[in-house]
Amino acid sequence: MSYQTEYDRSMNDPEGFWRKQAEALEWFRFPQHILTRDGDGNGHWFADGEMNTAYMALDHHVKHGRGDQLALIYDSPVTNTKARYTYAELTDVVARTAGMLAGLGVVKGDRVIIYMPMIPEAVIAMLAVARLGAIHSVVFGGFAAPELALRIDDAKPKVILSASCGIEVKRVVEYKPLLDRAIELAAHKPRSCVIYQRPQAIAPLLAGRDHEWTSLLAQAKPVGCTPVQGSDPLYILYTSGTTGKPKGVVRENGGHAVALKYSMKAIYNVDPGDVYWASSDVGWVVGHSYIVYGPLLHGCTTVVYEGKPIMTPDAGALWRVCAEYGVKALFTAPTAFRAVKKEDPQALLMKQYDLSKLQIIFSAGERLDAPTGAWLADNSGKPVVDHWWQTETGWAITANLQGVEPMPIKPGSSTMPVPGFNVQILDENGHPVPRGTQGFIALKLPLPPACLNRVWGDDNKFRDTYLSFLPGYYASGDGGYIDDDGYVFVMGRVDDVINVAGHRLSTGEIEEVVATHPAVAECAVIARDDELKGQVPLGLVVLKSGATISEADLHRELIARVRENIGAITCYKDTVILPRLPKTRSGKTLRKTLYKIVNGQEYVVASTIDDPGVIPEIIDVLRSRKMIA
Ligand code: COA
Ligand code: AMP
Repeated sequence: MSYQTEYDRSMNDPEGFWRKQAEALEWFRFPQHILTRDGDGNGHWFADGEMNTAYMALDHHVKHGRGDQLALIYDSPVTNTKARYTYAELTDVVARTAGMLAGLGVVKGDRVIIYMPMIPEAVIAMLAVARLGAIHSVVFGGFAAPELALRIDDAKPKVILSASCGIEVKRVVEYKPLLDRAIELAAHKPRSCVIYQRPQAIAPLLAGRDHEWTSLLAQAKPVGCTPVQGSDPLYILYTSGTTGKPKGVVRENGGHAVALKYSMKAIYNVDPGDVYWASSDVGWVVGHSYIVYGPLLHGCTTVVYEGKPIMTPDAGALWRVCAEYGVKALFTAPTAFRAVKKEDPQALLMKQYDLSKLQIIFSAGERLDAPTGAWLADNSGKPVVDHWWQTETGWAITANLQGVEPMPIKPGSSTMPVPGFNVQILDENGHPVPRGTQGFIALKLPLPPACLNRVWGDDNKFRDTYLSFLPGYYASGDGGYIDDDGYVFVMGRVDDVINVAGHRLSTGEIEEVVATHPAVAECAVIARDDELKGQVPLGLVVLKSGATISEADLHRELIARVRENIGAITCYKDTVILPRLPKTRSGKTLRKTLYKIVNGQEYVVASTIDDPGVIPEIIDVLRSRKMIA
C-alpha cells in the first residue's frame, strides 16, 4: 500500500482507520465508541473498551504460543551482568510483583512512582502497576531530590518503587538518600517504599515505611489483570515546559496500546519475534513507548541496556549489543551517534561486529544533523531514519514509514506526517503559511490515539499550554516548515525548552535555581549549541550591587546548586557575569536576542529595547570569555 493511501484513510475516516488497528489487540470488551470528542475538539479514543495493557503485552502472547520466546534481554556492561526473560517468565514475575503491590494496598487508579535505574525490575514494576489498573509515574534516575519531590506532590503516590543505586560510568549514584530527601521535601508522604537492593550500595531501610523488594516479592502471590476502560490512565510522565513546574502528561490505556501496536509495523517494520532495541532510559517517553510497551504489545524481544554508547567499555557498545542479540531495528538519539562518531571516526569498532541482522537505524530526541546521519548511513550501510516526536504524543508525529512505503530520505527532515497526525505550519494568528516558509508546527484536533488529552491534576493547564495559542490546533512548541514535496523539517523549539543530550529540560527551571544564589540579582539561562550534546545551558548573570564573588567561584557554586536541585544531566557548564541584561522598556529580558548572539546567529535588535547600548557591551564580555567568536 502507498503511504498516501494509508495517510488519506486515516484523515478521511479516522474512526474506521483506528477501529481496524484496534482489532489487532485482545480486548476484554471491544470498544463501541472509537472516538469521543470533548468540548475543545480533542477526544478520548476507545473510551468504553475494556482491557488491560499488561495483559495485551504479556498474557496474550503466552496464551497464543509465545511463552517460550524471549521477551526481555538485560545487558549491563556497568555491572557485567546479562539476563533473559521469556514471555512466560516475565508474565509470572509481573503477576507476582503486582501481588506484592496489591499487598501494600495498591488498587486501580492509585499512583505508584518508579524511581529506578535501567534494570529489568524497572520494566517489571511498570507492567505490574499496569496489571493492577493503577497508574505509574516513572521519574528518571538522573533527577535530583527536589525534582522527585515535585512529582511526588503532584502524583500523590501510595507507593514508591526504587533501587538502592544506579551505576554511572565512573560512580555509583545512591538513590536512597535522594528518595529520602525527596519524601522529606514533599508535602505528600507515600504509605510505603519498596527498595531493590543492589550489591554496589546497600541502602538502610526505614522501619514501617520501607520494604526490601526481593523478600517482599518472595511472599507475594500472583494476581490477575484488573480490567480498565480505554480512557483510564496508564501512566503519568512529567515533562518540562516553559514554567519551572513540570507537567504531568496523562497517557490513556486504549489509544496508547492501539497506536504503539500499529507503529511497530507501520513505522519500524518489525514483526512479532524480532529483536527491537531502543537505547534510551525508561525514565523518558522513548523508554516507555519503545523499551517497554511497543515491543511487548507487538510480541517482539526488547533490550534493556544499562550502559552508554561510549565508555562502557568503548564506542563499539551499540554495535556489540546489536550483533550479540540479532537486533533488527535500533533506535537512539543523535547525541549517542555523535559521541560514537567522535570516538571512532573511522567506524573501526563498528566493523568488528556482524551487523547482518540489523536492517535499520532510527533516530529521535532532537533533529538528526546531516553530517552525523551521513556518517552513520555510509559506515553502517543501513537506512538511517529520523523521526520527530514528543512526550505529549507518545509516538512519532512525522516519520518515514518503513512498514508502509519507505520514502527517499532527505537530510534534515523527519519525512512525512504519520497517519492520524494532521500537521500544519501556521503563523502566530493561526493562518497556514506557504510551503517552504517557517512557522509554528501545529497539529489539527483531534489528535490521534496515544496523544495526551489532559495534564494530571490540572484540567486548564492542557488547554492553556497547548490549545489556546492556535485555536482548533495543538501547538507543538516546535517551529519548522514543510517543503514542496510535503517533507516536514523540524527546526527547534520556539519556547524555553532546552534539549541536552536528548533530555528535555526547561531553561526557566534552571534560571529559578541560578536566581536563588545570594549574589545573583538576575539571570537568563540560554541554550547554547554544543557539538556533542546538541545544546547545553549557559548562565548569564547580573550580580547584586556590592557582591564581590569571582566568576569562577560563582560558577562552581552554581554548578553545585543546579546538580543538587535538578540533576547532573542538566550539564550546566558555563556562567558569565554581565553588567546588565538586555530588556524591553516594560522590563522583559530579550532572551531570543541573547540566544541568537550566543549561537552566532543574525539578530535584529527589537525596537522595544530599553537601551540598545547594552548589546555591544554584552558582545564584548562574551568575546572576552571566548563564548562567541
Ligand atoms: N542517574 C544518575 N546520574 C545520571 C544518569 C542517571 N540515570 N544519567 C546521567 N547521569 C549523570 C552522568 O553521570 C553525568 O554526570 P557527571 O557530570 O557527574 O559526569 C551527567 O548526568 C551527564 O550525563 P550524560 O548526559 O549521560 O553525559 P555523559 O558525558 O556521561 O555521556 C553521552 C555522554 C552522549 C554518551 C550520553 O549523553 C548519552 O548516552 N546520551 C544518549 C541519551 C539518550 O539516550 N537519550 C534518549 C532520549 S531518546
Ligand atoms: P521529549 O518530549 O523529551 O521527547 O522532547 C520533545 C522535543 O524534542 C520536541 O518538541 C523537539 O523539540 C525535540 N525532538 C525530538 N525528536 C526530534 C526530531 N526527530 N527532530 C527534531 N526535534 C526533535
